Amino acid sequence: MISPVLILFSSFLCHVAIAGRTCPKPDELPFATVVPLKQSYLPGEEIVYSCQPGYQSRGVVRRFTCPLTGLWPVNTLRCLPRVCPFAGILENGAVRYTTFEYPNTISFTCNTGFYLKGANSAKCTEEGKWSPDLPVCAPITCPPPSIPKFAKLSAYKPLAGNNSLYGGKAVFECLPHHAMFGNDTVTCTQHGNWTELPECREVKCPFPSRPDNGFVNYPAQQVLYYKDKATYGCHDTYTLDGPEEVECNKFGNWSAHPSCKASCKLSVKRATVIFEGERVTLQQKFKDGMLHGQKISFFCKNKEKKCSYTEDAECIDGTIEIPKCFKEHSSLAFWKTDASDVKPC
Ligand SMILES: *[C@@H]1O[C@H](CO)[C@@H](O)[C@H](O)[C@H]1NC(C)=O
Ligand SMILES: *[C@@H]1O[C@H](CO)[C@@H](O)[C@H](O)[C@H]1NC(C)=O
Ligand SMILES: *[C@@H]1O[C@H](CO)[C@@H](O)[C@H](O)[C@H]1NC(C)=O
Ligand SMILES: *[C@@H]1O[C@H](CO)[C@@H](O)[C@H](O)[C@H]1NC(C)=O
Repeated sequence: MISPVLILFSSFLCHVAIAGRTCPKPDELPFATVVPLKQSYLPGEEIVYSCQPGYQSRGVVRRFTCPLTGLWPVNTLRCLPRVCPFAGILENGAVRYTTFEYPNTISFTCNTGFYLKGANSAKCTEEGKWSPDLPVCAPITCPPPSIPKFAKLSAYKPLAGNNSLYGGKAVFECLPHHAMFGNDTVTCTQHGNWTELPECREVKCPFPSRPDNGFVNYPAQQVLYYKDKATYGCHDTYTLDGPEEVECNKFGNWSAHPSCKASCKLSVKRATVIFEGERVTLQQKFKDGMLHGQKISFFCKNKEKKCSYTEDAECIDGTIEIPKCFKEHSSLAFWKTDASDVKPC
């Protein structure tokens, strides 16, 4: 059995014996490997530097022989990363990168309206090539939209052959008698499909009923449909409450239900009143009575303060309430001052 101490000692002696003649372990160079790699070399022994995969040598001398001096010559070799071809520009998109050197990765995005055809990132390989291949930003398109039942296109212009570009629009309208539910305009989305299509449904309205003291006209058809119209009118002293024309709406209902309202007979014979901002005499302006919905203001007296104020009255379907404070003077009582001639309170 050989003691470890003895081994150490004998190797020390051996080292001393050839001191000044062996070369030491060579310097480490970044990204380079040395073959063979040892702790020491005898003169005449050869080493070869080579760059690691993905790195290329700069400087020519790569092969060295351990000289008798035991000093390795100055090594000018440098291993630099391989550089992949320039990839800093992506049409209709953007590239994120630090450098194009091995082993970096660059990434890609496309502008709005474009999609990435290919991978969203690429790596510079040991061979100095991009992997996978560089992508392109291709325009987003939508195929022609499908046409909802009972609808037709009213505006549509494909700008990419038969297809539409991102953001392109198509507008639908419903066939007659049909009402639209949803948005009439669809838009080509970033997913290459259209926003939700609207729906067209046939809509019928019931025949409108004749108002009391009036009449209604509508098309002489078996059925009344969406957008059909009816017109209303009233007999002599009656007034229409509501629009003259109504329309069948998308909910199968008429836009309004007008009725005929009665005029008002006035119990007051003589009075000065305010109508639509002007002083008028009741007996002249309203000698045939007031129409439904008309409003007037009567003058009343404040006895204590000896001044006048007004109170409103409205004709509602044949009835008007005369303000209690209003006092009608007999035409004979000419010496009395009418409230309308008294200064306002
Ligand atoms: C567009 O559509 C028409 C009819 O379907 C077809 O004949 C034509 O080849 C299409 N054009 C393109 C550019 O796809
Ligand atoms: C219909 O869609 C367009 C865009 O697609 C939008 O501008 C519009 O406000 C929508 N209309 C309604 C009534 O929602
Ligand atoms: C469009 O496509 C996207 C993604 O596939 C999907 O989420 C969306 O529901 C689609 N839109 C319509 C209206 O079909
Ligand atoms: C029709 O209109 C009437 C009055 O405007 C309303 O009370 C009724 O709920 C409507 N019906 C429908 C189906 O919308």
